[in-house]
Amino acid sequence: MIHILLIVSSLFTFSAYAAVQDFCVADLKGPDTPAGYTCKPAAKVTTADFVSTLGASGNTSNIIKAAVTPAFAEQFPGVNGLGISIARLDLAAGGVVPMHTHPGASELLLVTQGFITAGFVSSANKVYVKTLKKGDIMLFPQGLLHFQVNAGGFTSVAFASFSSATPGLQILDFALFANDLPSKLVEATTFLDDATVKALKAVLGGTG
Ligand SMILES: *[C@@H]1O[C@H](CO)[C@@H](O)[C@H](O)[C@H]1NC(C)=O
Repeated sequence: MIHILLIVSSLFTFSAYAAVQDFCVADLKGPDTPAGYTCKPAAKVTTADFVSTLGASGNTSNIIKAAVTPAFAEQFPGVNGLGISIARLDLAAGGVVPMHTHPGASELLLVTQGFITAGFVSSANKVYVKTLKKGDIMLFPQGLLHFQVNAGGFTSVAFASFSSATPGLQILDFALFANDLPSKLVEATTFLDDATVKALKAVLGGTG
């Protein structure tokens, strides 16, 4: 009997400390910390914090002929703290999402229109690549370099869900050729020649 009482009372004690909040809608005026944004006061939370749309196609008039429309915590505050988010990918004919990584999330891609050749490279440098058609899904494990290329001669569309409200995004080509990292250092770290590095910097907006 005493044992049961102890267990029951410890359960109450535990549950008092384990009380969870239903949600933590991002207060975008506060800082974005590694633990996410601070919570907007619950009294101010409305249905609109949990509803958004990715119904509109993104503008693909750019160098990569692709548009990623994110619904991460910044755009969709309701996902804050829930370890989940989503984005829409529009790939015009010839479009490509260059080799990139999401340091904070695994990605699950669902093709809803057209054909997309997608792949990732493991830490062991093994390549996993496949041409996906409408309805196909592909997984990209957290942190690994991956890419998507339009494999149809027309616009393809996909939706990517992420295991984080703030997946992060680093594009390899931009990291190498779209900033002011001195060309000599880019050449030393990539084994590319000076002319190639300067040509890529010119295309992608890098200097130095
Ligand atoms: C798409 O982006 C291009 C380049 O920035 C711009 O010129 C064009 O007006 C945009 N189109 C739409 C529909 O917003």
